[in-house]
Amino acid sequence: MRSLKWTASHAVWVNDLDAQHKEIFEALGNLDRFLAEPDPSKSVSDLAQSLTDSIADHFAHEERLMNAARYESIRWHKQLHRTATRRVRHLVRAMNSGSLEGGRALVDYLRNWMDEHTRIADRMLGAFLRNERRACTIMLQAGTKPLNGGGWMDTKGTPFDPFGTSRGLQQT
Ligand SMILES: [Fe+2]
Ligand SMILES: [Fe+2]
Repeated sequence: MRSLKWTASHAVWVNDLDAQHKEIFEALGNLDRFLAEPDPSKSVSDLAQSLTDSIADHFAHEERLMNAARYESIRWHKQLHRTATRRVRHLVRAMNSGSLEGGRALVDYLRNWMDEHTRIADRMLGAFLRNERRACTIMLQAGTKPLNGGGWMDTKGTPFDPFGTSRGLQQT
C-alpha cells in the first residue's frame, strides 16, 4: 500500500512546489479518513472540492513556472496534468453520485499518480527550475539579459524588468 503522506521521497527541492504537494497529500488523507469513517460534521463533496481545488491551483502554478522558464518538456508535463484532471473529474462525479467505490478509486488513483508524478515529472521540473534560478541570479548579478533574448517573467507569467526602467534591458 502506497503512502498517503508526503515524505522526503516526494521532494522536488523547490519550496513552493513541495508545500503544494504536501497540501494535496493532506487533502487526500482527509478524504481517505472520511471514507474509512464518515464524520457527520463533514461533507464528502466539500472534501473532494478542497482536494480538486488544491490540485487545480497547483497545476496552474507549475504551468506558469514552466512557461516563465521556457521549460523544454512543458507539453509532455501539461499533458500529464490534463490526463489526471480528466480522470479525477470523472471519479469525483462517480463519488458525488453516491458511489463509495468511486471515492476509493479516486484515493487510490491519486495516491499512485502523485507518487509517480512527483518523483519523475515534477522532480525533473524541480531540477530545471533550480538551474534556471541559479542562471537568473548569475545574470542579474552580471547585469545582463537572459541568454535566449526573451523578457523576464515572474511566477505568474507577468513580464517585469529586474533592473527598473532607468537601466532597462537594452544592454547588449
Ligand atoms: Fe506536475
Ligand atoms: Fe506537482
